[in-house]
Amino acid sequence: MTDQAPAVAPGAYTGPSRVLSGVQPSGALHLGNYLGALVKFSRLQHEIDTFIFVADLHAITVWQDPALLAQQTREIAAAYIASGLDPDKATIFPQSVREHAELAWIFQCVARLGWLDRMTQFKEKSGKHKERSSVGLYTYPVLQAADILIYKATHVPVGEDQKQHLELTRDIAGKFNHDFGVPGGVPAFFPQPEPLIQGPGARVMSLRDGSAKMSKSDPSDYSRINLTDTADDIAAKVRKARTDPEPLPETLEELTARAEADNLVGIFAALAGKTKAEVLAEYAGKGFGTFKPALAELAVEKLAPVGDRMRGLLADPAELDKILAKGAARASEAAAPTLAEVKKLVGFWGA
Ligand code: TYM
Repeated sequence: MTDQAPAVAPGAYTGPSRVLSGVQPSGALHLGNYLGALVKFSRLQHEIDTFIFVADLHAITVWQDPALLAQQTREIAAAYIASGLDPDKATIFPQSVREHAELAWIFQCVARLGWLDRMTQFKEKSGKHKERSSVGLYTYPVLQAADILIYKATHVPVGEDQKQHLELTRDIAGKFNHDFGVPGGVPAFFPQPEPLIQGPGARVMSLRDGSAKMSKSDPSDYSRINLTDTADDIAAKVRKARTDPEPLPETLEELTARAEADNLVGIFAALAGKTKAEVLAEYAGKGFGTFKPALAELAVEKLAPVGDRMRGLLADPAELDKILAKGAARASEAAAPTLAEVKKLVGFWGA
């Protein structure tokens, strides 16, 4: 029995590359989810075998109305497809396939309390009422590690707020390999998954406060652009976004000191597929009177069709259910061999 993360990493992982990620069905999706995660999913599906799920197990770490959860799950599936994920190419499925939860239990016995105590998201989400939070909210990142490693995923596209959970996943993979892996540790049983966090969309901030993350839970709807917002809503929210009176600067250093301006330039860059430097090269010296209408136009051009496609897909829930059921079967098939191997390595009777 070892209680520490191993000091020496075992041998390299030699299995195939796989992408895995997910989004919780716990509220309307916003521009941060879209730029930090969704657009990356559809790009990656053309390069690597891609598994994308709806994180319903994670959603119930805080109360979800049972009468709404299945429909919220369909909404996320619709958002995936509307933003370009192809169900014939990528596996789109609900997280509540049995193997995730089963591996998560084994990982709860691999992860250490000290590791979970460091997780900032639990501290933020539990706030002042830690003792009233669900146990699941605390062990949440262990389930996330199981989500990823049950598929031996090597690449995980996420926004920056998930970085710490990915580091924990790597620690769990390393410790499992060390404690239970093939003798000698070569090749490693689990990969060390790479978080894919790059780009100006990795951390989209609130439109009302450049120091707060754009989030589903912000009470102000003007703080975020929702994927289901109409073109008029999107334009109005960009127009009302908080800014400062200065024109846009020449350099990234000057921009960094101005949180709200930095955020809007980042959003523009991510939507246009450019770098922030390229956006500044075009707009330096121009005020928000010029920049905001250009951003509103770009945001409407890119996002309004996504909302329209989502509404179209949601009009046919039976078709979405078919896609989710097919995805769940495919996911289970991919996950089962890993779980069987894990049970054998742990030494369970009959494994
Ligand atoms: P969730 O549902 O909170 O968010 C879904 C994705 O959106 C990203 N994101 C952002 N990106 C940029 N700017 C923002 N303001 C912003 N807000 C959210 C998140 O980083 C995420 O990529 N724990 C995950 C779900 C999950 C998961 C996994 C992800 C469960 N298991 C395994 C990857 C792999 C979550 O709560 O995401």
